[in-house]
Amino acid sequence: MTSHRSIVTAFVLAAAFSGAASLSAYAQEAAANPTPQQWSFSGPFGLYDPQQLQRGFKIYREVCSTCHSLKLLSFRNLADPGGPHFTEAQAAAIAATFQVTDGPNDQGQMFQRPGKISDYFPSPFANDQAARAALGGGLPPDMSTLAKAREYNEGFAGFLIDPFTMYQEQGPDYIHAIINGYTNPPAGFALPPATYYNKYFPGGAIKMPPPLHDGQVKYTDGTPETLDQYGRDVAAFLMWASEPKLDERKQLGFQVMIFLIVFTGLLYFTKKRVWHDVHHPADPQQPRTAA
Ligand code: HEC
Repeated sequence: MTSHRSIVTAFVLAAAFSGAASLSAYAQEAAANPTPQQWSFSGPFGLYDPQQLQRGFKIYREVCSTCHSLKLLSFRNLADPGGPHFTEAQAAAIAATFQVTDGPNDQGQMFQRPGKISDYFPSPFANDQAARAALGGGLPPDMSTLAKAREYNEGFAGFLIDPFTMYQEQGPDYIHAIINGYTNPPAGFALPPATYYNKYFPGGAIKMPPPLHDGQVKYTDGTPETLDQYGRDVAAFLMWASEPKLDERKQLGFQVMIFLIVFTGLLYFTKKRVWHDVHHPADPQQPRTAA
């Protein structure tokens, strides 16, 4: 019995120690936490800013789309309500500037043709292997859900507070941070070949060369052409790509809340009416039920 117990105790202790060890290893590797940004779409009533989505799309199209695919988005989506508010004609014109693979034709060959509004965004590489071969081993993740798929550990307090603040913008914060996070590596950091130091990327060494610099993408609406602004705009666009129905969802949620408040009032008065005779018998001296 005793030997049994001591074996079990030894196991529990070993498990606890290894858990603690891997936790501290994680803490060492963990990257800096992104600074939360101001997002037009945060909070229960926040909606996308179509101008910002258009600027973010311009950045994706001119810069990120050379490496990152956006497979789940179709050109038609650019004209959907709650999005960047392009017209159908504009979305079709944008589609026509992309080359998509179609076919096979009558000779059994696949061929390239200009995109149509019903097409999905074509991927820059034929497959993952081709991407790795072209980019020194790095694989750029597809961006369709990137903004919803990335979050970071903000410690115990954050996880307690989040349900109340409804903060859901960790993904865009992270994308903005990565764009702005290239610095010199700290002293003693051994940067592997063909990588760049980014203080917000887990592990620090990222295989993506700094994709943007001040003034690289031209804005026509007078918005500052800075790295900081680019990071926010492209992150907002990628958030929309990941969650295109956010505006609709929040508006519907608001309508449901209004309905529930009105409905609660109606139920209250109905209840008063139905129970009126019980609570206020017309004549308290008279027995209410016939003998
Ligand atoms: C030259 C090709 C290239 C371009 C251009 C490029 N990226 Fe990347 N990106 C990569 C590669 C490769 C990785 C994978 C890095 C790794 O795994 O170390 C990556 C990773 C990322 C990540 C981290 C993803 C993760 O898994 O957490 C983000 C965020 C990102 N890119 C955003 C962008 C944005 C935004 C743009 C456009 C402004 C852009 N990238 C343009 C090649 C590129």
